[in-house]
Amino acid sequence: MKFVVIGGTGLIGSKLVSWLREHSHEAVAAAPDTGVNTLTGEGLADALQGASVVVDVSNSPSFEELAVMKFFTTSTRHLLESAAAAGVRHYVALSVVGTERIPDSPYLRAKNAQETLIKGAGIPYSIVHATQFFEFVKRIADEATDGTTVRLPPVLIQPMAADDVARAIGRVAVGAPVNGTVEVAGPQQFRFDELIRQDLGARNDPREVVVDPHARYFGAELGERSLIPAGDARLGEMRFEEWLNQPVLQREGSPPDVSSDRGRRTPRLAADPR
Ligand SMILES: NC(=O)c1ccc[n+]([C@@H]2O[C@H](COP(=O)([O-])OP(=O)(O)OC[C@H]3O[C@@H](n4cnc5c(N)ncnc54)[C@H](OP(=O)(O)O)[C@@H]3O)[C@@H](O)[C@H]2O)c1
Repeated sequence: MKFVVIGGTGLIGSKLVSWLREHSHEAVAAAPDTGVNTLTGEGLADALQGASVVVDVSNSPSFEELAVMKFFTTSTRHLLESAAAAGVRHYVALSVVGTERIPDSPYLRAKNAQETLIKGAGIPYSIVHATQFFEFVKRIADEATDGTTVRLPPVLIQPMAADDVARAIGRVAVGAPVNGTVEVAGPQQFRFDELIRQDLGARNDPREVVVDPHARYFGAELGERSLIPAGDARLGEMRFEEWLNQPVLQREGSPPDVSSDRGRRTPRLAADPR
């Protein structure tokens, strides 16, 4: 079975390609650097030839409202057309827990539009809803910073390690399509402010964390449970403190994998607004 991982050079994509190969599957990383551009459609037909499963873990380079909507809708239309033409039997996409519950967020509106296209395409599919990645927590703090203060609502969050996300989506991809959504999350729940305080403390970052019920999260006001799974989620194994205690390079990016098609060239932090 051939698996094509769209966004296969990114944070989750590179880990997923490795996981699939470790489990003896043929996995191809598709991204602009390997000649595949989902926005223009370039290289898609060739990359998907003979593919049984497509896993979309790509992300928009821009999170500006119109750009992010264009990325997820145009790319997904191109991908679905090419997947149908190639006879793909399972279409898997990574999205975010709470996507349908946080309509104020331009990013999540775009993810919702992506999901709607997938559900209506007629290809057997599985959508994986993941919670915020540990690798993304610093970016959340930066986004919520005003001067030396980080303002956050006192809501629940259940983040997870990118390694656990990749494993979870890998397991879904090798299984039968669920034609629905699978939720995955970390093993611990935190108050948002406590999580960010812990992350900043581990980095010796002196910013002060202040609780503000109306503080917005990437443009959206959150309810107590907006960011946590609605049902029985599959849980990752790694705890946040265990992740924080890893050496920085291991935690936030891995060196290039020269044995893969292109692998990841440079360590990179997660960078998108969830
Ligand atoms: N961060 C979180 O907390 C979180 C939580 C839940 C779900 N998610 C979802 O997880 C997914 C992956 O996130 P990530 O952090 O792994 O992303 P990432 O590291 O930013 O990687 C994005 C990937 O998409 C590729 N890409 C960008 N534009 C493309 C295009 N036009 N055509 C083909 N590929 C393109 C990138 O290639 P280049 O490097 O060559 O540009 C890269 O391989 C996203 O869909 C996101 O919504 C994230």
